Amino acid sequence: MSRLVSKKINVLLSALTDLDGKLIINAPMSRYTTMRVGGPALALYQPKCLTDLRDAIKLISGNNISLLAIGRGSNIIVKDSGTEKIVIKLSSPFFNKVKASDNYLICGGGVFLNKICYMAERNSLGGSEFLIGIPGTIAGAIVQNAGAHGSSISDIVRDISCVNLKGNIETLKRDEISFGYRESNLAKKIIVGVTLALKTKSRKKINSLLSSYVRERLSQQDYAFPSAGCIFKNPKGSALSAGELIDRCGLKGEILGGAYISDKHANFIVNRSKAKASEIIDLASIIRIRVKEKFNITLEEEVKIIN
Ligand code: EPU
Repeated sequence: MSRLVSKKINVLLSALTDLDGKLIINAPMSRYTTMRVGGPALALYQPKCLTDLRDAIKLISGNNISLLAIGRGSNIIVKDSGTEKIVIKLSSPFFNKVKASDNYLICGGGVFLNKICYMAERNSLGGSEFLIGIPGTIAGAIVQNAGAHGSSISDIVRDISCVNLKGNIETLKRDEISFGYRESNLAKKIIVGVTLALKTKSRKKINSLLSSYVRERLSQQDYAFPSAGCIFKNPKGSALSAGELIDRCGLKGEILGGAYISDKHANFIVNRSKAKASEIIDLASIIRIRVKEKFNITLEEEVKIIN
Protein backbone atom coordinates (compact mmCIF):
# COMPACT_ATOMS: atom_id res chain seq x y z
CA MET A 1 0.00 0.00 0.00
CA SER A 2 1.46 3.39 -0.94
CA ARG A 3 1.42 5.99 1.79
CA LEU A 4 1.82 9.73 1.72
CA VAL A 5 4.32 10.41 4.42
CA SER A 6 4.58 14.05 5.36
CA LYS A 7 7.91 15.71 5.87
CA LYS A 8 7.23 15.93 9.61
CA ILE A 9 6.71 12.20 9.83
CA ASN A 10 9.87 11.58 7.84
CA VAL A 11 11.82 13.72 10.28
CA LEU A 12 10.30 11.79 13.18
CA LEU A 13 11.07 8.41 11.62
CA SER A 14 14.63 9.47 10.94
CA ALA A 15 15.02 10.60 14.59
CA LEU A 16 13.69 7.23 15.73
CA THR A 17 16.14 5.45 13.44
CA ASP A 18 18.95 7.31 15.21
CA LEU A 19 17.99 5.77 18.57
CA ASP A 20 19.31 2.40 19.68
CA GLY A 21 16.80 -0.36 19.03
CA LYS A 22 15.09 -1.43 15.85
CA LEU A 23 12.68 0.57 13.72
CA ILE A 24 10.61 -1.07 11.01
CA ILE A 25 8.78 1.37 8.76
CA ASN A 26 5.43 0.22 7.30
CA ALA A 27 5.50 -2.80 9.61
CA PRO A 28 3.04 -5.49 8.43
CA MET A 29 0.89 -6.07 11.51
CA SER A 30 -0.19 -9.48 10.29
CA ARG A 31 3.33 -10.52 11.29
CA TYR A 32 3.05 -9.08 14.80
CA THR A 33 -0.41 -10.27 15.85
CA THR A 34 -1.55 -13.78 16.69
CA MET A 35 -4.61 -13.45 14.44
CA ARG A 36 -2.19 -12.94 11.52
CA VAL A 37 -4.32 -10.32 9.80
CA GLY A 38 -4.10 -6.57 9.27
CA GLY A 39 -2.33 -3.92 7.25
CA PRO A 40 0.87 -2.00 8.03
CA ALA A 41 1.56 0.29 10.96
CA LEU A 42 3.31 3.57 10.24
CA ALA A 43 6.28 2.02 12.06
CA LEU A 44 7.13 -0.52 14.72
CA TYR A 45 9.85 0.32 17.21
CA GLN A 46 11.63 -2.17 19.45
CA PRO A 47 13.69 -0.20 22.00
CA LYS A 48 16.93 -1.71 23.26
CA CYS A 49 16.57 -0.28 26.77
CA LEU A 50 14.56 2.09 28.93
CA THR A 51 16.41 5.20 27.77
CA ASP A 52 15.54 4.53 24.10
CA LEU A 53 11.97 3.81 25.04
CA ARG A 54 11.62 7.10 26.92
CA ASP A 55 13.30 9.07 24.13
CA ALA A 56 11.07 7.40 21.52
CA ILE A 57 7.90 8.15 23.47
CA LYS A 58 8.90 11.79 23.87
CA LEU A 59 9.57 12.07 20.13
CA ILE A 60 6.37 10.31 19.11
CA SER A 61 4.08 12.15 21.55
CA GLY A 62 5.82 15.43 20.77
CA ASN A 63 4.83 14.98 17.12
CA ASN A 64 1.22 14.16 18.05
CA ILE A 65 1.46 10.65 16.63
CA SER A 66 -0.50 7.97 18.48
CA LEU A 67 1.31 5.10 20.12
CA LEU A 68 0.23 1.52 20.34
CA ALA A 69 2.08 -0.75 22.75
CA ILE A 70 1.82 -4.42 21.91
CA GLY A 71 3.00 -7.56 23.61
CA ARG A 72 2.48 -10.67 21.51
CA GLY A 73 -0.38 -8.96 19.68
CA SER A 74 -2.72 -11.62 20.98
CA ASN A 75 -5.66 -9.40 21.74
CA ILE A 76 -5.64 -6.93 18.87
CA ILE A 77 -6.85 -6.88 15.30
CA VAL A 78 -5.44 -4.20 13.04
CA LYS A 79 -7.72 -3.23 10.17
CA ASP A 80 -6.68 -4.16 6.61
CA SER A 81 -6.02 -0.50 5.84
CA GLY A 82 -3.36 -0.47 8.55
CA THR A 83 -2.79 2.14 11.20
CA GLU A 84 -1.10 5.54 11.37
CA LYS A 85 0.06 4.67 14.88
CA ILE A 86 3.64 3.86 15.84
CA VAL A 87 3.75 0.47 17.50
CA ILE A 88 6.08 -0.19 20.44
CA LYS A 89 7.12 -3.73 21.22
CA LEU A 90 9.31 -4.59 24.21
CA SER A 91 11.06 -7.59 22.69
CA SER A 92 14.71 -6.81 23.46
CA PRO A 93 16.54 -8.77 26.21
CA PHE A 94 16.43 -5.71 28.50
CA PHE A 95 12.63 -6.04 28.89
CA ASN A 96 12.61 -9.83 29.01
CA LYS A 97 14.29 -10.58 32.31
CA VAL A 98 12.56 -12.29 35.17
CA LYS A 99 13.95 -13.10 38.63
CA ALA A 100 12.64 -14.35 41.93
CA SER A 101 13.31 -12.56 45.19
CA ASP A 102 11.69 -13.93 48.36
CA ASN A 103 8.05 -14.45 47.43
CA TYR A 104 8.17 -11.97 44.60
CA LEU A 105 8.73 -12.42 40.90
CA ILE A 106 10.24 -9.35 39.28
CA CYS A 107 9.42 -9.30 35.57
CA GLY A 108 10.29 -7.10 32.61
CA GLY A 109 7.27 -5.90 30.64
CA GLY A 110 8.03 -8.04 27.59
CA VAL A 111 8.16 -11.39 29.40
CA PHE A 112 5.79 -14.07 28.11
CA LEU A 113 3.27 -15.33 30.63
CA ASN A 114 4.31 -18.96 30.14
CA LYS A 115 7.91 -18.06 31.05
CA ILE A 116 6.61 -16.45 34.25
CA CYS A 117 4.69 -19.61 35.15
CA TYR A 118 7.76 -21.84 34.72
CA MET A 119 10.05 -19.41 36.53
CA ALA A 120 7.61 -19.37 39.45
CA GLU A 121 7.52 -23.17 39.41
CA ARG A 122 11.33 -23.43 39.49
CA ASN A 123 11.33 -21.19 42.57
CA SER A 124 8.48 -23.04 44.32
CA LEU A 125 6.22 -19.99 44.04
CA GLY A 126 2.53 -20.60 43.51
CA GLY A 127 -0.32 -18.32 42.50
CA SER A 128 0.51 -17.54 38.88
CA GLU A 129 -0.45 -20.95 37.45
CA PHE A 130 -3.73 -19.65 35.99
CA LEU A 131 -1.69 -17.59 33.51
CA ILE A 132 -0.39 -20.69 31.72
CA GLY A 133 -1.38 -20.77 28.07
CA ILE A 134 -2.53 -17.15 27.84
CA PRO A 135 -0.66 -16.16 24.68
CA GLY A 136 0.60 -12.79 25.83
CA THR A 137 3.22 -10.78 27.68
CA ILE A 138 2.91 -9.59 31.24
CA ALA A 139 2.57 -5.95 30.14
CA GLY A 140 -0.40 -6.77 27.91
CA ALA A 141 -1.87 -8.94 30.64
CA ILE A 142 -1.68 -6.09 33.16
CA VAL A 143 -3.26 -3.50 30.87
CA GLN A 144 -6.18 -5.83 30.08
CA ASN A 145 -6.26 -7.51 33.49
CA ALA A 146 -6.00 -10.89 31.77
CA GLY A 147 -7.26 -13.94 33.55
CA ALA A 148 -8.44 -17.51 33.42
CA HIS A 149 -9.77 -20.20 35.74
CA GLY A 150 -11.52 -17.67 37.97
CA SER A 151 -8.42 -15.55 38.65
CA SER A 152 -7.13 -12.33 37.14
CA ILE A 153 -3.61 -10.95 37.12
CA SER A 154 -4.77 -8.10 39.40
CA ASP A 155 -5.03 -10.74 42.17
CA ILE A 156 -1.25 -11.22 42.24
CA VAL A 157 0.17 -7.81 41.28
CA ARG A 158 2.27 -6.05 43.89
CA ASP A 159 3.41 -3.04 41.86
CA ILE A 160 4.25 -1.98 38.34
CA SER A 161 6.57 0.49 36.68
CA CYS A 162 5.56 2.19 33.49
CA VAL A 163 6.45 5.05 31.20
CA ASN A 164 3.76 7.66 30.60
CA LEU A 165 3.14 9.53 27.35
CA LYS A 166 5.50 12.30 28.46
CA GLY A 167 8.30 9.76 28.70
CA ASN A 168 8.42 9.84 32.51
CA ILE A 169 8.73 6.73 34.65
CA GLU A 170 5.99 6.06 37.20
CA THR A 171 5.82 3.35 39.83
CA LEU A 172 2.35 2.35 40.98
CA LYS A 173 1.40 0.05 43.83
CA ARG A 174 -1.50 -2.38 43.38
CA ASP A 175 -3.86 -0.07 45.33
CA GLU A 176 -3.07 2.85 43.05
CA ILE A 177 -4.22 0.96 39.95
CA SER A 178 -7.85 0.58 39.01
CA PHE A 179 -8.56 -2.91 37.63
CA GLY A 180 -11.87 -4.16 36.23
CA TYR A 181 -12.92 -7.27 34.34
CA ARG A 182 -10.45 -7.41 31.44
CA GLU A 183 -9.60 -3.73 31.86
CA SER A 184 -7.47 -1.27 33.82
CA ASN A 185 -6.73 2.44 33.83
CA LEU A 186 -3.25 1.77 32.40
CA ALA A 187 -4.13 1.81 28.70
CA LYS A 188 -2.13 4.99 28.06
CA LYS A 189 1.03 3.75 29.77
CA ILE A 190 3.80 1.47 28.58
CA ILE A 191 4.34 -1.13 31.30
CA VAL A 192 8.05 -1.85 31.61
CA GLY A 193 8.17 -3.87 34.81
CA VAL A 194 5.86 -5.82 37.10
CA THR A 195 6.35 -7.37 40.53
CA LEU A 196 4.08 -10.30 41.28
CA ALA A 197 3.41 -11.36 44.88
CA LEU A 198 3.29 -15.17 45.08
CA LYS A 199 3.20 -17.80 47.81
CA THR A 200 5.52 -20.66 48.65
CA LYS A 201 4.13 -23.89 47.19
CA SER A 202 5.60 -27.28 46.35
CA ARG A 203 6.86 -27.68 42.80
CA LYS A 204 4.88 -30.88 42.53
CA LYS A 205 1.59 -29.10 43.30
CA ILE A 206 2.42 -26.23 40.93
CA ASN A 207 3.31 -28.68 38.17
CA SER A 208 0.16 -30.67 38.53
CA LEU A 209 -1.98 -27.51 38.38
CA LEU A 210 -0.07 -26.25 35.33
CA SER A 211 -0.58 -29.58 33.57
CA SER A 212 -4.29 -29.67 34.29
CA TYR A 213 -4.77 -26.09 33.02
CA VAL A 214 -2.82 -26.89 29.85
CA ARG A 215 -4.90 -30.04 29.28
CA GLU A 216 -8.10 -28.06 29.82
CA ARG A 217 -7.07 -25.38 27.33
CA LEU A 218 -6.02 -27.88 24.69
CA SER A 219 -9.27 -29.81 25.02
CA GLN A 220 -11.60 -26.80 25.10
CA GLN A 221 -9.96 -24.09 23.03
CA ASP A 222 -8.93 -23.92 19.40
CA TYR A 223 -5.18 -23.90 18.82
CA ALA A 224 -5.27 -25.41 15.34
CA PHE A 225 -5.43 -22.01 13.62
CA PRO A 226 -4.32 -18.45 14.38
CA SER A 227 -6.74 -16.59 16.65
CA ALA A 228 -6.92 -13.82 19.22
CA GLY A 229 -8.32 -16.10 21.91
CA CYS A 230 -11.78 -15.18 23.12
CA ILE A 231 -13.27 -12.49 20.91
CA PHE A 232 -15.93 -11.28 23.37
CA LYS A 233 -15.92 -10.63 27.11
CA ASN A 234 -18.26 -12.73 29.19
CA PRO A 235 -21.32 -10.51 29.66
CA LYS A 236 -21.91 -9.10 33.14
CA GLY A 237 -24.99 -10.40 34.87
CA SER A 238 -25.50 -13.33 32.49
CA ALA A 239 -25.41 -16.92 33.76
CA LEU A 240 -24.18 -17.96 30.31
CA SER A 241 -20.67 -17.22 29.06
CA ALA A 242 -20.13 -15.53 25.69
CA GLY A 243 -19.06 -18.91 24.27
CA GLU A 244 -22.28 -20.59 25.43
CA LEU A 245 -24.45 -17.75 24.08
CA ILE A 246 -22.80 -17.94 20.66
CA ASP A 247 -22.98 -21.73 20.70
CA ARG A 248 -26.72 -21.63 21.53
CA CYS A 249 -27.26 -19.37 18.52
CA GLY A 250 -25.97 -22.27 16.41
CA LEU A 251 -23.08 -20.22 15.10
CA LYS A 252 -20.25 -22.74 15.50
CA GLY A 253 -18.72 -23.50 12.11
CA GLU A 254 -20.01 -20.26 10.52
CA ILE A 255 -17.61 -19.07 7.79
CA LEU A 256 -16.92 -15.67 6.26
CA GLY A 257 -14.10 -15.82 3.73
CA GLY A 258 -11.10 -17.12 5.66
CA ALA A 259 -12.67 -16.40 9.06
CA TYR A 260 -14.36 -19.22 10.95
CA ILE A 261 -16.26 -19.53 14.22
CA SER A 262 -14.45 -22.39 15.89
CA ASP A 263 -16.45 -25.58 16.28
CA LYS A 264 -14.43 -26.27 19.43
CA HIS A 265 -15.10 -23.00 21.30
CA ALA A 266 -17.70 -20.60 19.93
CA ASN A 267 -16.01 -17.52 21.41
CA PHE A 268 -12.98 -18.15 19.17
CA ILE A 269 -12.94 -16.74 15.67
CA VAL A 270 -10.01 -18.35 13.90
CA ASN A 271 -8.11 -17.39 10.78
CA ARG A 272 -8.62 -20.62 8.90
CA SER A 273 -7.24 -19.59 5.54
CA LYS A 274 -5.73 -16.21 4.78
CA ALA A 275 -8.58 -14.25 6.37
CA LYS A 276 -8.81 -10.50 6.01
CA ALA A 277 -9.22 -8.40 9.14
CA SER A 278 -12.55 -7.24 7.71
CA GLU A 279 -13.82 -10.83 7.59
CA ILE A 280 -12.96 -11.39 11.26
CA ILE A 281 -14.57 -8.07 12.23
CA ASP A 282 -17.69 -8.74 10.12
CA LEU A 283 -18.07 -12.23 11.56
CA ALA A 284 -17.85 -10.72 15.06
CA SER A 285 -20.62 -8.26 14.07
CA ILE A 286 -22.80 -11.14 12.89
CA ILE A 287 -22.27 -12.84 16.27
CA ARG A 288 -23.17 -9.64 18.15
CA ILE A 289 -26.37 -9.21 16.13
CA ARG A 290 -27.46 -12.84 16.51
CA VAL A 291 -26.81 -12.92 20.28
CA LYS A 292 -28.69 -9.63 20.71
CA GLU A 293 -31.65 -11.00 18.72
CA LYS A 294 -31.84 -14.29 20.59
CA PHE A 295 -30.88 -13.29 24.15
CA ASN A 296 -31.19 -9.47 24.18
CA ILE A 297 -27.58 -9.37 25.42
CA THR A 298 -25.03 -7.02 23.87
CA LEU A 299 -21.65 -8.71 23.68
CA GLU A 300 -18.64 -6.47 24.13
CA GLU A 301 -15.41 -7.23 22.31
CA GLU A 302 -12.47 -8.33 24.44
CA VAL A 303 -10.22 -7.96 21.42
CA LYS A 304 -9.30 -4.39 20.48
CA ILE A 305 -9.84 -3.33 16.87
CA ILE A 306 -7.11 -0.94 15.78
CA ASN A 307 -7.58 1.72 13.09
N1 EPU B 1 -19.16 -23.35 26.36
C1 EPU B 1 -20.09 -23.79 25.48
N2 EPU B 1 -19.84 -23.70 24.15
C2 EPU B 1 -18.69 -23.17 23.68
C3 EPU B 1 -17.72 -22.70 24.60
C4 EPU B 1 -17.98 -22.81 25.94
O1 EPU B 1 -21.15 -24.26 25.86
O2 EPU B 1 -18.51 -23.12 22.46
C5 EPU B 1 -19.42 -23.47 27.79
C6 EPU B 1 -18.42 -24.38 28.50
O3 EPU B 1 -18.80 -25.71 28.42
C7 EPU B 1 -18.45 -23.83 29.91
C8 EPU B 1 -18.74 -22.36 29.72
O4 EPU B 1 -19.21 -22.19 28.39
O5 EPU B 1 -19.52 -24.40 30.62
C9 EPU B 1 -17.50 -21.49 29.90
O6 EPU B 1 -16.53 -21.89 28.94
P1 EPU B 1 -14.96 -21.91 29.27
O7 EPU B 1 -14.69 -22.72 30.49
O8 EPU B 1 -14.25 -22.24 28.03
O9 EPU B 1 -14.66 -20.45 29.73
P2 EPU B 1 -14.94 -19.09 29.00
O10 EPU B 1 -15.72 -18.25 29.95
O11 EPU B 1 -15.48 -19.27 27.64
C10 EPU B 1 -12.83 -17.90 30.01
C11 EPU B 1 -11.91 -16.87 29.45
C12 EPU B 1 -10.81 -17.55 28.66
C13 EPU B 1 -10.07 -18.50 29.58
C14 EPU B 1 -11.09 -19.54 30.08
C15 EPU B 1 -10.47 -20.57 31.03
C16 EPU B 1 -13.17 -14.84 28.92
C17 EPU B 1 -13.91 -14.08 27.87
N3 EPU B 1 -12.67 -15.99 28.54
O12 EPU B 1 -13.45 -18.53 28.89
O13 EPU B 1 -9.93 -16.56 28.23
O14 EPU B 1 -9.02 -19.14 28.89
O15 EPU B 1 -12.13 -18.84 30.81
O16 EPU B 1 -10.48 -20.12 32.31
O17 EPU B 1 -13.04 -14.37 30.05
C18 EPU B 1 -9.30 -15.05 26.52
O18 EPU B 1 -9.35 -14.19 27.38
O19 EPU B 1 -8.90 -14.82 25.35
C19 EPU B 1 -9.69 -16.39 26.89
C20 EPU B 1 -9.79 -17.35 25.99
